[in-house]
Amino acid sequence: MTAFRLPILAFVLLAAGSPAFAAEQPVDPYVVSDANAGTTPIQGDAVYKAFHGREGVARIVSDLVDRNVDDPRISDIFKAADLERLKRTLTEQFCYILGGPVSYTGRDMTAAHKDQGLQTSDFNFLVENLQWAMDKEGVPFRDQNRLLAKLAPMKRTMVER
Ligand code: HEM
Repeated sequence: MTAFRLPILAFVLLAAGSPAFAAEQPVDPYVVSDANAGTTPIQGDAVYKAFHGREGVARIVSDLVDRNVDDPRISDIFKAADLERLKRTLTEQFCYILGGPVSYTGRDMTAAHKDQGLQTSDFNFLVENLQWAMDKEGVPFRDQNRLLAKLAPMKRTMVER
């Protein structure tokens, strides 16, 4: 093994071996990278500020995940999910995409949604719930649309039909 591979291996093992928080379940090994977020960040910090920074994003994500779990149209998909981990990684991902000073440490979108059998309708229901959560946080419509424009192309990496 060449010298430069050792730190990479250590990072992969770290990412997989012990959950970042005690309440989280371990997941299969993966390489931690911002590229796993599935898109590039919005430039500048204006949109991040419109979401009220990390605390605002955390509120939106918490409301979104809770609403998905309670939404009879998609609740079954969330039955076996690790909600602690989902809230943490989704908050990181949104902060990163919105131009905040946050790294994404979760899995890529294909790995995260593997075997869920997601359909376009599931994606649309989740977007509806996200819009509700962003409204609740008081995020202006134009800033909501900046995030949605980044998320929309990800559909093809997770939806099966
Ligand atoms: C653009 C849209 C979406 C984004 C950005 C997104 C993002 C994420 C992220 C960051 C994770 C966690 C990754 C990790 O654990 O490392 C995740 C997991 C998950 N997502 Fe999504 N997701 C999207 C769409 C959906 C949809 C449409 C559904 C279902 C209606 C869904 C259901 C789930 C579930 C159930 C998990 C947890 C899987 C587990 O615990 O193993 N996601 N998603």
